[in-house]
Amino acid sequence: MQPLEDWAGPRRAALDQLLSELFNDAWPEAFGAMGRYPLLTGGKRIRPLLCLAAHEAIAGTWEPALRPAAAIEMVHCYSLVHDDMPCMDDDAERRGKPTTHVQFGEDMALLVGDALLTESFRILSRPWGDPAMQLELVRELSTAAGYHGMIGGQAADLGALGDITDVETLTRLHRGKTGALIRCAVRMGAITARANWEVLDGLTRYANHVGLAFQLADDVLDEEQDAGEDGPPSFVKLLGVDETRRRAQALAQEALDALGTLEAPVLRQLAQFSVERTI
Ligand code: IPE
Ligand code: IPE
Ligand code: MG
Repeated sequence: MQPLEDWAGPRRAALDQLLSELFNDAWPEAFGAMGRYPLLTGGKRIRPLLCLAAHEAIAGTWEPALRPAAAIEMVHCYSLVHDDMPCMDDDAERRGKPTTHVQFGEDMALLVGDALLTESFRILSRPWGDPAMQLELVRELSTAAGYHGMIGGQAADLGALGDITDVETLTRLHRGKTGALIRCAVRMGAITARANWEVLDGLTRYANHVGLAFQLADDVLDEEQDAGEDGPPSFVKLLGVDETRRRAQALAQEALDALGTLEAPVLRQLAQFSVERTI
C-alpha cells in the first residue's frame, strides 16, 4: 500500500497553492498577509485530505474537490483563530508559532476569523460547477460550521451547559465541536463526486466515527495540558487515559467497518492516522 504521506504530498501542495492565492486582492493590502497567516502556518490538513480522499474513493480523481477542501480548511482555521483569543482559550501559540491575535492584535484577529469564514462561502458559491450541487455544499458547510455543529459544541465547551460530568453530553459536545467539520469534509468530497445515497450514508457513518475518534485522541494528547479543575471537559477526565485510548481505537475500527466494500485505502489510512497521530 502507498504510504499516506506519498499520497498526501501533492494534494497538500495543490491545496497550499490555492490557499496562498487567497487575500491577494485584499484592501487594505496589509490585511492580505494577516488573512493568509493562519492558513499557511502549518496544520495537518486532515479535513481537506478527508474531503479529497472521499472524492477520490468514488470518482478516482481529487482535483474537482479542491474548492470544498479549501473551504473546510478556511472554516477550521477561522475557528482556531477565534478559539485562541483571550476571550476564549487565551493561547499565545499555535502550531509552534504566535497565534494570530498575538501577531496582529485582537481586533485584527477577530476580523481575520470573520474574513476566513465569509470567504469560504464565497469560494463555494462562485460559479464553478452544477449550481444545485454547489447549493448542497453551502448547506453542508453552513450546517456544520454554525450552531447546529461546531458553534454549538464550542458554546458547550466554554461552559454554556455548566459543568459536564457525563460521557453522553461530552460526546454530543464533541460531535459538534470537532465532529461536525470532519463529517462535512467527507460528505462534501462525496457530494462533489455525485455519490449515491448508499455510499454517502456509509461515508457519513465513517466520518462520524473518525470525528469522535480524532477528538478522543486529542484529549489523550492534551491530557497534561488540560488537567485540573479549570481545564475544559474531556474524555480523559471522565474515563481515564487507557479507556479513552481504547475507545478511540474501537471507533477507528467502526469507521473502517462503515466503509464496507468501498475500496478506499486512503480513507482507511486516515482513520488510523486520526487515532495514532502524535501531533
Ligand atoms: C485542532 O485541530 C483542534 C481540534 C478540533 C481538535 P487539528 O489537530 O486538526 O489542528 P491542525 O489544523 O492540524 O493544527
Ligand atoms: C479548538 O478546540 C477549536 C475547535 C475545535 C472549534 P480546542 O480548544 O479543544 O483545541 P486546541 O487545544 O485549541 O487545539
Ligand atoms: Mg483551544
